Amino acid sequence: MLTVENLNVWFGHPPDRVDAVQDASFTVPQGESFGLVGESGSGKSTILRAIAGLIDTWSGTIAVAGKPQSARKRDRAFFKTVQMVFQDPYASLHPRHSVDAVLSETLRLQGMDDIDRRIARLLDDVGLGRGFCFRYPHQLSGGQRQRVAIARALAAEPRLLLLDEPTSALDVSVQAEILNLLADLRAEHGLTYVMVSHDLAVVGHMCDRLAVMQAGRIVEVMGVTALRQGTAQQEYTRQLIAASRGYARA
Ligand SMILES: Nc1ncnc2c1ncn2[C@@H]1O[C@H](COP(=O)(O)OP(=O)(O)OP(=O)(O)O)[C@@H](O)[C@H]1O
Ligand SMILES: [Mg+2]
Repeated sequence: MLTVENLNVWFGHPPDRVDAVQDASFTVPQGESFGLVGESGSGKSTILRAIAGLIDTWSGTIAVAGKPQSARKRDRAFFKTVQMVFQDPYASLHPRHSVDAVLSETLRLQGMDDIDRRIARLLDDVGLGRGFCFRYPHQLSGGQRQRVAIARALAAEPRLLLLDEPTSALDVSVQAEILNLLADLRAEHGLTYVMVSHDLAVVGHMCDRLAVMQAGRIVEVMGVTALRQGTAQQEYTRQLIAASRGYARA
């Protein structure tokens, strides 16, 4: 479903150029949930944004469903296949657009018909009733907003969802609800996920495999069993696991 090979992503020009991602490679088979973890600034969001077509300064290969993507603008077919959910549902929804407006606009952009029935279905899919149709973002809780953002991502009927810390802006009690929703949606719709999280417990729960990043590079790609058992190949990964356990105990 996704192939990333020798990906380099940079910002700016020398001498101020930032090499945010260097020589990153991983593949995600259809239906898998793949995690990206690593310390702040290690390049996790940058990888997702490059895949999503939000950054054009990169080299290497990004192929989605076997189709290599160019650094320039993506076509409509791309956005039908790939959608992204951002960390902050407060920022990602337009304050003056009702839920109905957000979803109908996305559905129309995708050339879909039968808009009302689709909106009802989407709201149902994300555990919000039709009663939420005419609410505005400020009339929703953080968790409800993220449900709307997820519904908007699903509206295109994508196959690959890019999730950038989808629950880290939410209250702990709501995080589990949204994670469970995402797990259910993946099973129901046969979706493939790439999920960024700084929380190894979340990745251990949600993902099949993961890449560990440090300073722009992928230091290790591993299965979640190895993560749970703490049997990482690289010293850096073992430190990261130990640190997250120490934190969990504290
Ligand atoms: N638009 C930009 N212009 C310049 N530098 C940037 C830009 N976006 C990101 N960077 C830099 O690229 C590096 C990687 O940033 P990125 O946002 O991918 O990190 P991250 O792993 O997602 O971190 P966090 O866990 O804090 O979200 C950082 O050094 C950051 O400062
Ligand atoms: Mg980030």
